[in-house]
Amino acid sequence: MTHYETLVERLSTQTAHVGVIGAGYVGLPLAVGFAEAGLHVTLVDMNADKIKMLCAGDSYIPDVTPERVQALVQSGHLRPTSDYAQLAAADAISICVQTPLDINREPDLTFIRAALTSLSAHLHVGSLIILESTTYPGTTVEHVVPMVQERGFVIGDDIFVAFSGERIDPGNAHYGLRNTPKVIGGMTPACSRLTELLYEHAIDRVVLVSSPTAAEMVKLVENSFRLVNISFANEVAMMCGRLGINAREIINAAATKPFGFMPFYPGPGAGGHCIPVDPVYLSWKMRTLNYSARFIDLASEINNAMPHYVVERITEALNDDEKAVKKARVLLLGVAYKPDIDDMRESPSLPIIDLLRHKGAQVMYHDFFVPVLRVEDGTTLTSAPYSEALLQQADCVVILTNHHKYDWRHVVEHSRLIVDTRNVAANVVGQARIVGL
Ligand SMILES: NC(=O)c1ccc[n+]([C@@H]2O[C@H](COP(=O)([O-])OP(=O)(O)OC[C@H]3O[C@@H](n4cnc5c(N)ncnc54)[C@H](O)[C@@H]3O)[C@@H](O)[C@H]2O)c1
Repeated sequence: MTHYETLVERLSTQTAHVGVIGAGYVGLPLAVGFAEAGLHVTLVDMNADKIKMLCAGDSYIPDVTPERVQALVQSGHLRPTSDYAQLAAADAISICVQTPLDINREPDLTFIRAALTSLSAHLHVGSLIILESTTYPGTTVEHVVPMVQERGFVIGDDIFVAFSGERIDPGNAHYGLRNTPKVIGGMTPACSRLTELLYEHAIDRVVLVSSPTAAEMVKLVENSFRLVNISFANEVAMMCGRLGINAREIINAAATKPFGFMPFYPGPGAGGHCIPVDPVYLSWKMRTLNYSARFIDLASEINNAMPHYVVERITEALNDDEKAVKKARVLLLGVAYKPDIDDMRESPSLPIIDLLRHKGAQVMYHDFFVPVLRVEDGTTLTSAPYSEALLQQADCVVILTNHHKYDWRHVVEHSRLIVDTRNVAANVVGQARIVGL
């Protein structure tokens, strides 16, 4: 039997042993998905605290309940560890480590490289390696393939390699791992077929593309599409501001067209690990090919300018109340980058806090999910307990994240002035004066 045939047999049944590297927002739900499908999963993470929590049957990702982790750890289907040696018998290994930007806002592949180096020592014939981290087109070919070849293995015969970008949307109650189709690009047709067999355990539909580079590009096109459209909606808000009309009204009316228009809405700026970051990976790669990704660069520029625009709106709103930003008490409601999660990565709240504090404002915040916040100057803020008194003492309440737990009627009833970047208070009647974006 060839290694391919053996792997086909193993991955077609629940006897397969799967390794997942990186137990974060992506890796943990993926590992849990495989384990709940009956596979045996080894989940490797360098963060000892995370592994300790998982081994104790606990969870730190809101989409994965502690009960689910506990059941899988107890049954032995999920084995969290920091020891790469545990991957020595894995049939398939998914790499789900983070891909941030470095201080120059360029791709930082440190985590992928480190994971590959650690994995390299435990590589064995007859295994499938899948890169899941979002990264620039060419990463699998430039980084994963050489690591395998340096060990003397032949791709497509001894070891199989593919890319499949994760599409998970933390906090999304409708689309999770199972019902979000997954795009796969293998180095050879055999690599693609094996990846398909693996994912079919946990995902309803897999879509094959011609190569890992194509699959990497699919992921970046998806996220660049969102960044470009969100930035356009933000520019529409700025244009409407000049015209003295309401951007939401315009976008909602445009969306009544049954074809050819897809609504995106303004906000304080797109945050998170993906939308503001991933397109920069593509733009960077294009620069190495002497091409300028103009839409992406412009969209990033607008996105990065949104916190300044929000602070401008706050300044104007206070000015209309005959108040200066300096010494004004500004209360931010919600600081996470999107509703109902605790994720602060690339949240526009961080530069907004920074800009307001530079102008001398006394900034307070409340967030159900973020009890403590480390701001850009390194200091720490603590979420103020939500109360009527908190709203009343603020010169300006700024709605930054529309967590569903907020009662906007209550907020509008007890605040004086609201800058609403999420358009959640616009139609609520109460004492507050409300300023939109
Ligand atoms: N978070 C999302 O919504 C989302 C959605 C789709 C795709 N992605 C992509 O998926 C990838 C992972 O993102 P995430 O949000 O899960 O990141 P994360 O920071 O939540 O998790 C990454 C984990 O990898 C671990 N890690 C880092 N280096 C390691 C190493 N060498 N060995 C073992 N473990 C290591 C970290 O300790 C961490 O727990 C990124 O490329 C991201 O762009 C994220």
